[in-house]
Amino acid sequence: VITHKVDSVLSMMTLDEKIGQLTLYSSGWDKTGPSMNENYINDIKAGRCGNIFNAFSPDYNRKLQKIAMEQTRMKIPLLFGYDVIHGQKTIFPIPLGEAASWDLKSIQKTASAAAAEAAAAGIQWTYAPMCDIARDPRWGRVSEGAGEDPYLGSKIAAARVHGFQGTDLASDTTVVACVKHFAAYGAPEAGRDYNTVDMSERKLRDVYLPPYKAAVDAGAGTVMTSFNDLNGVPATASHFLMTDILRKEWGFNGFVVTDYTAINELVPHGIAKDDKDAAALAMNAGVDMDMQGGTYSKYLKELLKEGRVTQEEIDNAVRRVLRIKFRLGLFADPYKYFSNKREKKLTYSKYHMALARQMARESMVLLKNDKETLPLKKGQRIALIGPLADSQRDLLGSWHAAGDWKINKTVKEAMVEQFGKSNIRYAKGCDLRGDNRSGFASAVAVARRSDVVVMVLGESAEWSGEAASRAHINLPHIQSELLEAIHKTGKPVVVVLMSGRPLALDKEVPMTDAMLEAWFPGTEGAPALADVLSGKYNPSGKLPMTFPRITGQIPIYYSAKNTGRPYTKTGKEQKYRSRYLFTPNTPEFAFGHGLSYTTFSYSAPKLSTVRLQMGDTLHVSATITNTGNYDGTEVAQLYIRDMVGSVTRPVKELKGFRRIFLKKGESKTVTFDLTMNDLSFYRKDMTWGTEPGDFKVFVGGASDNVKEAAFTLVK
Ligand code: IFM
Repeated sequence: VITHKVDSVLSMMTLDEKIGQLTLYSSGWDKTGPSMNENYINDIKAGRCGNIFNAFSPDYNRKLQKIAMEQTRMKIPLLFGYDVIHGQKTIFPIPLGEAASWDLKSIQKTASAAAAEAAAAGIQWTYAPMCDIARDPRWGRVSEGAGEDPYLGSKIAAARVHGFQGTDLASDTTVVACVKHFAAYGAPEAGRDYNTVDMSERKLRDVYLPPYKAAVDAGAGTVMTSFNDLNGVPATASHFLMTDILRKEWGFNGFVVTDYTAINELVPHGIAKDDKDAAALAMNAGVDMDMQGGTYSKYLKELLKEGRVTQEEIDNAVRRVLRIKFRLGLFADPYKYFSNKREKKLTYSKYHMALARQMARESMVLLKNDKETLPLKKGQRIALIGPLADSQRDLLGSWHAAGDWKINKTVKEAMVEQFGKSNIRYAKGCDLRGDNRSGFASAVAVARRSDVVVMVLGESAEWSGEAASRAHINLPHIQSELLEAIHKTGKPVVVVLMSGRPLALDKEVPMTDAMLEAWFPGTEGAPALADVLSGKYNPSGKLPMTFPRITGQIPIYYSAKNTGRPYTKTGKEQKYRSRYLFTPNTPEFAFGHGLSYTTFSYSAPKLSTVRLQMGDTLHVSATITNTGNYDGTEVAQLYIRDMVGSVTRPVKELKGFRRIFLKKGESKTVTFDLTMNDLSFYRKDMTWGTEPGDFKVFVGGASDNVKEAAFTLVK
């Protein structure tokens, strides 16, 4: 039915009106690049602009929609987009933090809450989920993704798409998702944003493509191109990516939008001589909509006349855009998304705030906890120190959409609420960076007068996100020095980290008794943190990304290849091995690591057979026991290793996980199903499938803390 309607609208459109539908301009707020068009209102009137982003209030968006509906010939409703990445107004933890929960249901719920708030504010299209696998924490945008692993990344990508889009795109509580940034944007050389990516097709397909594909399979309606060059062709000019893989292999039938001025950027990339040339390359590659660059608007008509783009390419692009507008129900009711009443009801609603608090609790990862320093004990005098302990703004992280940081409680306020004013003594100690040590003395004095010290250290929210790469990912020296001064008091020290990426903490870890990664935890982040520190909530987060010891170990990830000279620590010097001279190969904290206030023990995995017939499913089970003193949730992880292949395989690959709640002393058996799909990979001839032979299976609570079993896959 929609195809018929789309074709009928298309048949009435002029070429200029068609090109207008392929044009997207920013309303002028929240720009992340050059401003290409301040005149977007006139363009809407003239039918030259069919889509707007960065406008995010029911009144303003309604006003713009009215222009499209009342002053244009075709009366095609505008589509409104916005970066609703981890919330619209109620802000949830940054996506990397959410990923640390390994809780797909909760992740889906936060995406759907974000969608509901956004849809009431006049938005129908979010630029999320970001599906970029990232193994270099120098890259600032690791904060926006799900970390280093294709399996976890794929599950989370699908959950987010389901959350944003729901089961009915035409509902006034859902928005259409945009899978970004296609492709391999998360692998820029040296972690510098927008930098070149050069990787084998095997790695691209094995590691980087799966989460985008999972999001497309989950029904995502749109895809955003990436800024980077991939193997010599910038993604925005890549027919291979946008047409061969996306549309032909994966059957994607939504539309593709550029990331911002990515078409214009084909010129500095050195693949187009000018914007016109660039527009032709993008259209020929299969890019449907130009975000902010204005190249389609300026040049498509001429390019068509010159025969450099075809009418069919333009018509197909317009069809794809119109189809999404129909699916969103915009033609039926162009105003249904602008609802002050719904916005008021949903924004910061009790349910959304409770969800934000729960998600923030689940996202926190207990990295270290010696001598049961945490949870804090009742009546303890707590020194609260550090540049982030009383910060309101940083709690939200980057891309916090329309979220208002002024409503956040700071950690200090939440701690006072949780532990009582008389138990909290606060001193800032130092700034996030710089050389000002004037606050050290009072911080040390406060520590001396207390039983335990909680230091809130880390990064400013602005140090991650777009265009926020760091060459060193350690704590700035001033914070490290403050920690050293506090450590010298001999008081137990708990470090709470706020960061948008893994940090390199080799100097700091030995100076702490406990360490908790809180990421940027969002609107309800501070109360959630107090819940965790007090033991009201027993932490259950697991790292979705490896924490190196030092920046020089990057890239470091758990699913590495073995090499021909693997280094195994035997106590004997092993010179001619794959290793560093003065630094271990192992990370500070491995992928999947995360402690609890209780302890869990695992039985060895039991397999349904040790000779698996090709085509069958292997059932793997393990019994997990809560052996500590608290009830708690554990994330049990299943990994495999294909011992010999036609191409080398990683030493471990995640293939399953389960979150399970265990009461003190309780045991439960978890079962995983390993299918042929889980054992498949791109073989030597680049076909996808399995190979017979020996496998190992590992089950445990972290990638570096597992028990193993073995089986053979037989023909
Ligand atoms: O969605 C973003 C993208 O992730 C980075 N460049 C700008 C886009 C729109 O704001």
